[in-house]
Amino acid sequence: MDAPLNHQPIAVFDSGLGGLTVLRALRQRLPGEDFFYFADTRFLPYGDRPESFIRERGERIAASLARRGAKALVIACNTATVVAAESIRAASPLPVVALEPGVKPAAALTRSGVIGVLATTRTLRSQRFQRLVGDHASQHRVLAQACPGLAEAIERHGPGSAEIECLLDAFVAPLAAAGADVVVLGCTHYPWVAEMIARRLPAGVTLLDTGEAVARQLERRLAAAGLLGGGQGRLTVASSGMPAQVEATVGRLWGSLLPVEHWEPDHA
Ligand code: DGL
Repeated sequence: MDAPLNHQPIAVFDSGLGGLTVLRALRQRLPGEDFFYFADTRFLPYGDRPESFIRERGERIAASLARRGAKALVIACNTATVVAAESIRAASPLPVVALEPGVKPAAALTRSGVIGVLATTRTLRSQRFQRLVGDHASQHRVLAQACPGLAEAIERHGPGSAEIECLLDAFVAPLAAAGADVVVLGCTHYPWVAEMIARRLPAGVTLLDTGEAVARQLERRLAAAGLLGGGQGRLTVASSGMPAQVEATVGRLWGSLLPVEHWEPDHA
């Protein structure tokens, strides 16, 4: 018989709707689970905020999601992971799965020895990112390209606007010019514009996103904790922003309309 906790949803959070690219992979791998997705839209972008803010906010969100009855937590935001995953893990009663830029798989894949990483300013400046490069890619040339404004533009327009074209021209050109043959999508918003990024790179360049790896890791963690299964494939989407506005953006990105409810993490 399932323990009652098995029936609780898996909580997933991001600063906005980038984490939906991860959620897509999670639902594909674990179609029988229920998910509660939280977009902290009111505070998007995390990528330009101080570490102290992201850490405090991440810890509060994680604690509130646990109190709300989640059985596991997925941090579907690279920026929140590099800043706050350790403290969230230390404080959380739940299994916590987090994703970080795929520097390690990129180092195994590159043939040219040049790896591009597209991510937020905060992610690329973090100690954890520096460590990731030092541990796994020190023998390669790693071009860390910050993309300020890109996550917000994706939320504002969905893929395919002139503003995004213009931002990507500036962000991707240096990677192509340097001969990168693997480009890491180090922010969960960027898979929404993967095709636009690919068009700016020579044929054969690999774009790496970590959604599927996170899904496999979540499955392992749930199995190890005896928490696998027990849901019904239900999805609830919530945001700290204005539900109607967020709903319109979800529709553009997700490809179908999903109701969005308002939710705010509470104080303990
Ligand atoms: N989606 C987030 C990430 O993976 C960041 C976007 C933002 O700057 O809030 O890093």
